[in-house]
Amino acid sequence: MIQILENERTFHLQTTASSLILHVMESGHPVCLYWGGKVDGDSFSYIVKEIKKASYLSGTDGNQAFRLEQYPLLYPAYGNPDMRTPAFLFRYEDGSRITDLRFQGYEVFHGSRKLDGYPTCMDKEAEGIVVKLSDRAGQAEVWLTYTVFQDYDAVTQSAKVFNPAKTSMVVEKLMSGCISFLDDRYDCLTLTGAWGRERHVNREAIRQGLFVLDSKRGASGHGSNPFVALVEPGADEDNGNVYAMNLVYSGSFEADIEVDMHQNTRMMMGINSFDFAWKLDGGACFQSPELVLVHSSEGLGGMSRSFHRFYRECLMPKRFAHSCRPVLINNWEATYFSFDRKTILALADEAVRLGVELFVLDDGWFGHRDREDSSLGDWTAYEAKLGGTLESLAEEIHARGLQFGLWFEPEMVSPDSHLYRSHPDWIIRVPGHEPQSGRNQYVLDLGRKEVQDYIIDSLDRVLGSAGITYVKWDMNRNITDIGSAVLPADRQKEVLHRYMLGLYRILEEITGRYPDVLFEGCAGGGGRFDPGMLCYFSQIWTSDDTDAMERLEIQRGTSMAYPGIAMGCHVSACPNHQMGRVTSLHTRGVVAMGGNLGYELNLLELGETEKQEIREQIAFYKHIRDTVQNGILYRLKSDGQEYAWMYLAEDGSQAVVSHVRVLARGNTVPKRLKLAGLSRDSWYEVTVAGEKVGNSDKSRILSGSSLCSIGLPLSVPEGDFFAEQWIVEKLHK
Ligand code: GLA
Repeated sequence: MIQILENERTFHLQTTASSLILHVMESGHPVCLYWGGKVDGDSFSYIVKEIKKASYLSGTDGNQAFRLEQYPLLYPAYGNPDMRTPAFLFRYEDGSRITDLRFQGYEVFHGSRKLDGYPTCMDKEAEGIVVKLSDRAGQAEVWLTYTVFQDYDAVTQSAKVFNPAKTSMVVEKLMSGCISFLDDRYDCLTLTGAWGRERHVNREAIRQGLFVLDSKRGASGHGSNPFVALVEPGADEDNGNVYAMNLVYSGSFEADIEVDMHQNTRMMMGINSFDFAWKLDGGACFQSPELVLVHSSEGLGGMSRSFHRFYRECLMPKRFAHSCRPVLINNWEATYFSFDRKTILALADEAVRLGVELFVLDDGWFGHRDREDSSLGDWTAYEAKLGGTLESLAEEIHARGLQFGLWFEPEMVSPDSHLYRSHPDWIIRVPGHEPQSGRNQYVLDLGRKEVQDYIIDSLDRVLGSAGITYVKWDMNRNITDIGSAVLPADRQKEVLHRYMLGLYRILEEITGRYPDVLFEGCAGGGGRFDPGMLCYFSQIWTSDDTDAMERLEIQRGTSMAYPGIAMGCHVSACPNHQMGRVTSLHTRGVVAMGGNLGYELNLLELGETEKQEIREQIAFYKHIRDTVQNGILYRLKSDGQEYAWMYLAEDGSQAVVSHVRVLARGNTVPKRLKLAGLSRDSWYEVTVAGEKVGNSDKSRILSGSSLCSIGLPLSVPEGDFFAEQWIVEKLHK
């Protein structure tokens, strides 16, 4: 709901549990009055106060007592007496960088508005407001759009700049949104890491100065995620205020958190302004991507549950947002590039016997690709290797009762390819410099329409031919040598953003043509796990690191913002190919059941006992799949040594509880694990996973209150990497 108050100068944006209050000061500068738990009231401007004695601050508009730097400005500018980090920066033809934005008016709308060219959160029940600002010298106009998704406790924000003049101007920075707080006692929570250890939770107290979290890689990246939260120091999983931002964008981004000398905090996020500039001809406009704001007064758990529900309902492809995902086998770690038709079919035969539903043929099926140094861009089947056409292989897979899926890396080209030989100028590079290759490949210039069309046509040809119901869309290198053969000198800083817009056009087109194909995003593992991708890819490969212990922190961090149904999680071989670590098949299964379960190991090398265990794992997963994929997540423990999480079905009928202890410790006594979210007045049958539900020797009837207050008794670990799992079924008493 949006309330317009105080002579149309105060806008109260309300979700079910939160309030965001914007106010326009007499000077026409908009401020962020409040963001937090829901409040009631019809006047709020009384809290805008000046500190008359603050020294060394300049006055504004000739008024020495009006010091802009004291205020929680909503969309702060550069070049006025507010000397903090600005949310935007424009350069005009005369070399000036001063823009003086003041309130011009507002417009309220119903439903959500699709942002042109961008993935956007959509809901017809949403309500929005556009706050219109214009420069006093008439050089630019900026519209800030806020959309309120009341039932999901989320608000989105974006900015659009217009050039009303006849001459051109340059947008050097345009953050999607900015929020100001009159306090500095927060921890900053980010999801950082590297390849193989993506999205580890990092929490540190903020202090005076500027903290920047960013990516300059042309992708959101393995090292940083476009997510940042300010957390009250005492807040934990269940309690306390959390203020989170997540950018719906998959390219280079920037988050700035600044604590000023008056203990105020400013937090903003948007396209990375580093090496970015967008030329706006007279009359043109530029739109920022969308930023999601979630406030929770129920700690990190409450924040995550809001994000999960919001993304499932308002961002992910509708067709797959709630549909259970098939259990898959992927041949990558089973065979890498060395396979033939016989091996693939033998793997498929074994997979069917174990209960697998989808066969994914990973890299190496096209061109003449036997290693990573050829054929990207030539999306035609390698028939000599496949022992026939792709269609005939797909038919044989289908005949076994399996769906068939295929790997692509459409944004890339190998120097050894027909595509590169025909169009060497299609890559991102700078003339006069030998382009850098990464994994022996170049990046295509997706800003070019003919390149976009080539990718769309190539995929269309394959997808239209072989009964493919799943695509793994990979992207295995970051973008260097930023330059485009078709842009003039003064537009070269637009290349990375044009790339993203091109990618979104391709994805919009191809996922639109194949709405029933399940797309899984991937970028050398989890190098592009962000809301922008989630709008097209219903699941994303969480990390190339499939070691169960490594996955505990990766999946926990990912779950901060992204729902379980979006996480690809595989059981792989031991010793693990990335870590060399040995964990039991049971533990690997428990951890991979934290998201969408798949298998990525050579089933043909397994003994009967292991195959039987996998058969039982898959059968069990099918029983709990709906709860894991569509349920509500409670993180019960995560301290680096112990991880426990629980998925509760939306109707409360079933819960799946998992607990993993990393290293065993000497002389430990039995502990308990308290559950969450259950109805305290109801009764539940609790069964240890692997035992038959309803087997009275192995299951116990317990009340919701005892499960939440006393907890489940944990076993004393029988060695390192010890995992337990329970299924909790509600009884209708
Ligand atoms: C990337 C992916 C892997 C696999 C390989 C294939 O590394 O993350 O899962 O698909 O590419 O080359």
